[in-house]
Amino acid sequence: MYVDPLTIYREYIQNAADAIDDARRAGVLSKTDAGRVDININPVERSILIRDNGSGIAADRAAATLLSIGASGKRGTDARGFRGVGRLAGLAYCRVLTFRTRAAANEPVVEVAWDCVKLKSTLRDVTQTDDLPGVMKRIVSISELDGSGYPEHFFEVELTQVVRLRRDALLSAPQIETYLAQVAPVPFAREFRYAEKITAHLDGHVRMADLQIKIGAEGAPITRPYRDRFAVTDTVQDDACNVELLTFEGEDGLVAVGWLMHHSYLGHISTKSQVGGLRLRAGNVQIGAASLADEVFPEARFNGWCIGEIHVIDRRVLPNARRDDFEQNIHYANLLAELGPLGRAIAKRCRDASVARHRAREERVQSEAAEVPRPLSAGPSEGGQAVARSDLLGASFAASADRVASMQAADGELGLVEKLIRLIAASGATRAEVEYAFGETLRRQFDKD
Ligand SMILES: Nc1ncnc2c1ncn2[C@@H]1O[C@H](COP(=O)(O)OP(=O)(O)OP(=O)(O)O)[C@@H](O)[C@H]1O
Ligand SMILES: [Mg+2]
Repeated sequence: MYVDPLTIYREYIQNAADAIDDARRAGVLSKTDAGRVDININPVERSILIRDNGSGIAADRAAATLLSIGASGKRGTDARGFRGVGRLAGLAYCRVLTFRTRAAANEPVVEVAWDCVKLKSTLRDVTQTDDLPGVMKRIVSISELDGSGYPEHFFEVELTQVVRLRRDALLSAPQIETYLAQVAPVPFAREFRYAEKITAHLDGHVRMADLQIKIGAEGAPITRPYRDRFAVTDTVQDDACNVELLTFEGEDGLVAVGWLMHHSYLGHISTKSQVGGLRLRAGNVQIGAASLADEVFPEARFNGWCIGEIHVIDRRVLPNARRDDFEQNIHYANLLAELGPLGRAIAKRCRDASVARHRAREERVQSEAAEVPRPLSAGPSEGGQAVARSDLLGASFAASADRVASMQAADGELGLVEKLIRLIAASGATRAEVEYAFGETLRRQFDKD
């Protein structure tokens, strides 16, 4: 299965969020200190450095923690990670993967570097007989560095000689930002009118982290992509009209909280806008893509019409190892069942909005058709009459086409030809008349239908 390389950022940001929560709990960071993650990309050397100001790892535990595989110290805590493998996500994408950390000013900086090239050749080598510790000894190096020049407490991961993959997404600041704005535990934008209301609703239930993530020294902190106005298509914009705060109670207590931003439900919201879909999150990190909640809806397509988030609180609902889905257990099934009524309510809003728009459109067409003079009085002879009627129809349709073009700005769901066909059908013209007036384009469309 294809894994989006950008998911490595989610793993490192998630670790940073856990470490920043730890630092806040321990008082190393105060409640008001920003939890910072700085991402630096060097496109010439093809390297990436991701550094956070969280708790770091104490020198006496650092090497063991960073060498162990699948034995997370976070298991059973309320941290986001629990498998003990996430930090290795970078192994596949670079030649050397290096971690550096320290937990306090009086400690050295511990560095653990994985040689990814050697790792791959060792794994491919059928003649090699070493066990895992033996292999690790050959591919991992551990050192202590002089701490001057490093922060008092920090953790950083460096990917050196990053491989070129998928439009070089790993080194592309805009692509990383687009991805993290949607997935990472970053705050809502201040200019988003519901930011405070939603944050107040989630706070207390969700480990928000509210990371200040910047790409490059000049970068502005990344925020969630939600705004009061958003693009439905390249040409159609829509506006938020209110927010509904959601709470889902199961038999054993709170299962999830969330929010839904209502708008005009004009159609499928373009993925470019980054806001479409009911997004599922755990620990304020998005799980999977926007389509993950499709199954909550009576028709999957309506998921793409709505805007909102569901934050899973029930700790028995577990993200899978790739965090592109949840583990299929009874608790996840219960959560989906809890979300069913919401999916149906959203689908109803979409259908109602669509019917209302259709009705308004027809009324507009009818009232405009009433203003067109009756064509049948146009000429005395039969042939003359037919031509005159068709001419008139042509003119009327041309006016309709203009109207349709302006309607397009208000309605993104239908193509121009489809709208024209509906207008024509509403005007009661025959197929022959339509062909006469419009020629090839529509004829082909009619034949297709
Ligand atoms: N940014 C960081 N700051 C401090 N410690 C870290 C950081 N990143 C990783 N660690 C330590 O390394 C351990 C292993 O990280 P890794 O991401 O592999 O596993 P995990 O986060 O425990 O679980 P998961 O595989 O679910 O992510 C963590 O449990 C933590 O102790
Ligand atoms: Mg992790």
